[in-house]
Amino acid sequence: GGHQPLKGKRLLLTAGPTREALDPVRYLSNHSSGKMGFALADQAQRMGAEVTLISGPVSLPTPQGVNRIDVESAEQMLAAVMDNLAGQDVFVGCAAVADYRPVAVAEGKIKKSEAAMTVELVRNPDILATVAQQAKRPFTVGFAAETHNVEQYARDKLARKGLDLIAANDVSQPGQGFNANANALTLYWNEGAKDLGHSDKADQARQLLETIAQRLPADENA
Ligand code: C5P
Repeated sequence: GGHQPLKGKRLLLTAGPTREALDPVRYLSNHSSGKMGFALADQAQRMGAEVTLISGPVSLPTPQGVNRIDVESAEQMLAAVMDNLAGQDVFVGCAAVADYRPVAVAEGKIKKSEAAMTVELVRNPDILATVAQQAKRPFTVGFAAETHNVEQYARDKLARKGLDLIAANDVSQPGQGFNANANALTLYWNEGAKDLGHSDKADQARQLLETIAQRLPADENA
């Protein structure tokens, strides 16, 4: 019911952290809660979209009516995104993807010794940039968490990754971003910007999705 600006649209999202295995019992990860991505999935579904949510390990319930695919590593997340990309109208990369992974996963549990230990890391693929580079791609949206020069870094990222829109948050402000229940996003696209104010993640999600809906190309077969 209600206001359905995304009716008939298909939306693919990533959310949460990724886990990069060191051995069968250990991994590298980050503190992403997945709250923003799950709020986006929930609101998009309420706004009429058919939503696929690709999530790293989080402790959140699946929003009603949302198709959820669980993954662990960045490589698994990329594979799940590429498997589900055909026919999508919108892609939102909300996951806090680990930038690096251990070069190799030890087959057995790594044993400690008195010596110091070095772990070699390699870069993970950039899922968002990979989606943006596809010839036939959805309207592609990224996030930028910055501590300073927010607009400059966000606009750099918009251009460098070839995005249609970027949602930036100033993570130097208390009570927003990682793990918080509230957020304060500013949206940037080539021709404009929009400050969403400070509100809970459901409201920020709704406003972001409204802006995306307004900026989507008109239906070719409407
Ligand atoms: O470059 P940076 O990590 O700050 O970019 C953040 C944006 O890129 C987020 O939308 C995030 O989901 C996405 N990203 C990604 N794959 C990566 C790194 C970031 O999709 N390996």
